[in-house]
Amino acid sequence: MATSRVWISAACLALLVFPFLLSPALAEEEDEAAAAAEAEPSFVLTLDHSNFSDTVAKHPFIVVEFYAPWCGHCKRLAPEYEKAASVLSKNDPPVVLAKVDANEDVNKELASKYEVKGFPTLKIFRNGGDIIQEYKGPREADGIVEFLKKQAGPASAVIKSLEDSSNLIDDKKIFIVGIFQEFSGEEFENYIKVAEKLRSEYDFGHTSEAKLLPRGDPTVKLPVVRLFKPFDELFVDFKDFDVDALEKFIESASIPVVATFDKDPSNHPFLIKFFNSPNSKAMLFINFSGENFDAFKSKLYEVAENYKGKNINFLIGDLDASQGAFQYFGLKEDQVPLIIIQENDGKKYLQPNVSPDQIATWVKDYIDGNLKPYRKSEPIPEGNNDPVKIVVADTLQEVVFGSGKNVLLEFYAPWCGHCKKLAPILDEVAISFENNADVIIAKMDATANDVSNEFDVQGYPTLYFSSASGKLSHLTHLILQKMNFNHGVIMLAVEGEEDKTVSWSYKDKQELCYYALIQIA
Ligand SMILES: *[C@@H]1O[C@H](CO)[C@@H](O)[C@H](O)[C@H]1NC(C)=O
Ligand SMILES: *[C@@H]1O[C@H](CO)[C@@H](O)[C@H](O)[C@H]1NC(C)=O
Repeated sequence: MATSRVWISAACLALLVFPFLLSPALAEEEDEAAAAAEAEPSFVLTLDHSNFSDTVAKHPFIVVEFYAPWCGHCKRLAPEYEKAASVLSKNDPPVVLAKVDANEDVNKELASKYEVKGFPTLKIFRNGGDIIQEYKGPREADGIVEFLKKQAGPASAVIKSLEDSSNLIDDKKIFIVGIFQEFSGEEFENYIKVAEKLRSEYDFGHTSEAKLLPRGDPTVKLPVVRLFKPFDELFVDFKDFDVDALEKFIESASIPVVATFDKDPSNHPFLIKFFNSPNSKAMLFINFSGENFDAFKSKLYEVAENYKGKNINFLIGDLDASQGAFQYFGLKEDQVPLIIIQENDGKKYLQPNVSPDQIATWVKDYIDGNLKPYRKSEPIPEGNNDPVKIVVADTLQEVVFGSGKNVLLEFYAPWCGHCKKLAPILDEVAISFENNADVIIAKMDATANDVSNEFDVQGYPTLYFSSASGKLSHLTHLILQKMNFNHGVIMLAVEGEEDKTVSWSYKDKQELCYYALIQIA
């Protein structure tokens, strides 16, 4: 559980930083459904529960988009996906694109089988469905075509000439080459296995001649794996051909000693790796144009080199590019230069107004367990007399777990449209329970307060119900559509019981809460 939460918090951060890269679980929908009439015959196959398995089994390579009709990102993808399908239909080997409406009740089992958590989710199915990979490529037609053509070809490209080598290996991205005496045997097979597994994230090649490669010892003893990267030492050799070891090596060698967080898009792939890593993350935020920048940078490199391989990764971030991160961590500009460490389980440590010479000692204090964690919280509200009670990070434990009451808690974001639509309903529900001493209806601004580990907040609004007896339930799949003050559609399910998702039009504003109290308690 812990790891998935870390990933979530990292994903949230990545989301704030690059909103175009990830689609939130509950995407903001456009108000009017741009009903793209499918008059033209489509190159994208439409699949559903009845023919999904048969179709996937028939194709050596098929991409499936799981979408929902109300999802804005899906609507933007649709014309690009269609265009790509038309181009790819002529590819050799054929690349087939398909889609499944995961919002349809009959397809929900399919969506949960393939762990569809947000829309759109795209998966690549190889060998009739034997191998399934997340699609992590571009979202516009030309990019999709180029990415999938490469994905449909061999996992590792043979390098036979200097020309092959210079076409494949450039100084902008990571490229991995296996150098073998011959292309057979256990070591080679393991290498290809890893290439198959990681091919959607990295580029692989193999050769029998180290002298064709742009860097590294041409007389190296074979076999060896050489990873080229556009940062730090520029290449690394690795000689352990155990599948797990090789995979681990590739993952860790692909993260820079100090990741750079600025507006340069070529750094983004490495930042995503940084944020997705399970290691602790030490981040120094500073004005890159300030006079002390070089002193900070070289100190941080020194410290990072020292802790290499010790489960802590380092980043230097430009104040100018960091508004999203500042909001996420609740940081203020007058705290810069600052260093913050975020751990695997979400725990954070902060040192504002740090000087270059303090960095090493502070990180050592952290490693030695001598620092007190930092928690982002709004001030505890005075009065708090409205029907819907305000909860902040510093009162969360007390209200939700310490009150001995039934608590319906909404995590919201001030900018979230669905939350605004939910607000009057929640108000009304709270008013109707005002005389009931056993019930608390509460809300917390999850952008201004740290959400503790018991809760999994991936999108807004997220609702939890904590019963007086202490049972905590996550109300998932909350979708409020075309809401006005008096009616709408609500879908609710409890996490882990998605098969019981209910979708219904409600007229009575209390229904939402009754559902929580009666069905789940
Ligand atoms: C799968 O079944 C659906 C519903 O019957 C149909 O609309 C669709 O065309 C079928 N797809 C294929 C590839 O047979
Ligand atoms: C960063 O420093 C430069 C040079 O001192 C200054 O002009 C700029 O306003 C600063 N940027 C921020 C975001 O404070």
